[in-house]
Amino acid sequence: MYSPENRIATSVLVIGTGGAGLRAAIELAERGVSVVAVGKRPKADAHTSLAAGGINAALATMDPEDSWQQHAADTLKESYLLANPHTVQIVTEGAARGIEDLQRYGMPFAREQDGRISQRFFGAHTFRRTAYAGDYTGLEIQRTLINRAAQLDIPILDTAYITKILVKDNAVFGAYGFDLNDGRRYVIHADAVILAAGGHTRIWRRTSSRRDENTGDSFRLASLAGCRIRDPELVQFHPSGLIAPENAAGTLVSEAARGEGGILRNQLGERFMSHYDPERMELSTRDRIALAAYTEIKEGRGTPDGGVWLDVSHLPRQTIMERLPRVYQTLMELQMLDITTDPIEIAPTAHYSMGGVWVRPEDHGTGVDGLYAIGEAASGLHGANRLGGNSLIELLVFGRIVGQEAAAYSAGLDAQRRSAEALDEARAEVDELLAADGPENVRALQRALRNIMTEHAGVVRDEAGLLKGLAELATLEARIGQVGVHPDIAGFQDLAHAFDLKSAALSARATMETALERRETRGCHNRSDYPELDPALQVNLVWSGPGSVERETIPAIPTEIAGLMREVSSEGKLVE
Ligand code: FUM
Repeated sequence: MYSPENRIATSVLVIGTGGAGLRAAIELAERGVSVVAVGKRPKADAHTSLAAGGINAALATMDPEDSWQQHAADTLKESYLLANPHTVQIVTEGAARGIEDLQRYGMPFAREQDGRISQRFFGAHTFRRTAYAGDYTGLEIQRTLINRAAQLDIPILDTAYITKILVKDNAVFGAYGFDLNDGRRYVIHADAVILAAGGHTRIWRRTSSRRDENTGDSFRLASLAGCRIRDPELVQFHPSGLIAPENAAGTLVSEAARGEGGILRNQLGERFMSHYDPERMELSTRDRIALAAYTEIKEGRGTPDGGVWLDVSHLPRQTIMERLPRVYQTLMELQMLDITTDPIEIAPTAHYSMGGVWVRPEDHGTGVDGLYAIGEAASGLHGANRLGGNSLIELLVFGRIVGQEAAAYSAGLDAQRRSAEALDEARAEVDELLAADGPENVRALQRALRNIMTEHAGVVRDEAGLLKGLAELATLEARIGQVGVHPDIAGFQDLAHAFDLKSAALSARATMETALERRETRGCHNRSDYPELDPALQVNLVWSGPGSVERETIPAIPTEIAGLMREVSSEGKLVE
């Protein structure tokens, strides 16, 4: 089938126009390196814009005792020792610089009366180190980065769906895709490619991602390019997702609500965190609160609709309007509920992929020459439980570093080999799907896949369930071969959904296969058949295709950081 192709050549291609991709593109453009950024969502509405409560850096504006070392210690401790200490050090040490960069670009942080950047508590931080802009922090960061990108004239194509990263002899040479509006193909030749296309949390039924976000594209693109996926089973379920209305189920209620003093209660009116983490209560870690809420609901103390209550109505109205404006607006818009007077009904929601594409800590190279991964697409910082606010700072820090690395890689190339065969394969894959006229409906299969993941690989897992999930997935994979794809006058969204589905299926397999291998309970990963943490599994699990899971040793924690870590208690975890 012939389709006109839009051919583009650039030094560096960035796939993904959220915060990570934009920050990397800015670094490249500031260094005078040609860069093109492509994405499948309107750039002003990339997923980063949904990040709410804040961004972490040990600025010590509120608590002078804070330090990057303590931030590193908190991050490592709450990762249940699965984060890579080197990655953690790079992010926490570079965090203040990340905030400075944002200020330089014009970011409107909330400030104290004397001008200091305000910082608030987020769960499990030793000190107040979460800087914010109301609970619209991600949105303001995205706006700030878009403005800076515009000043630098960075080309951003935000209707480009990338279907394949082009590789020859383990070196990247560009990417292939199509336009979501008119189906025109893109052949983009590039010396280096930065993958910043998010995670895979949209493959659960209740999720804080929207329909076409976090569908596992990074996992699929990277796997097909020859990369490996680290710890895909480590998925953060955020404790507070809305349960209604159905079409917005999972929408995030920011942790800022608890940080500002919100209280959790079950249907009996009990402040249930006193049973799970009496010391930290609502400021406990996300994994503990999500499991606590799950347990309350499962054991019959939840609301009739399957939730628990989050109440901020005792807070001064002004605090809510100034510091939680988005939660206020969201509840008004979706439920006509006034949070200054009424509690919010919530339940855990799939929120963040803590694993991702395997990368080296220092430069986020993937092992495929010239191919880098950053942001939620990458792995190494979060381990088995991410501290809220760490993802936004990660994208600032590694966006800068990876921009520098990609620039150096491009400058150091003597020549680049391309492959007509790889390009033909990419074309053929799109042609084939466009010609597909089978009986299976893509959207129905997406829903079936989300049901499989929710039933068998949710907050609590076990071997029987995971094996059943894998068997159901195998049946679904066969059905994917029978889909019909029907783009219409409105655009090529149906083709995009078909690729999203392929990505989701690959991500689901990687997740369940590694979840099966992690025979323990650690952080977000609760195995009811293995309720204890197993010290032998203090390793990363690396997936390199169906049936292939290997263990990877994690480097030792530097003594100066280890000395600041308090014991990781098992309080609030599964008890038989
Ligand atoms: O709850 C929140 O505001 C989310 C923040 C995060 O995931 O970092």
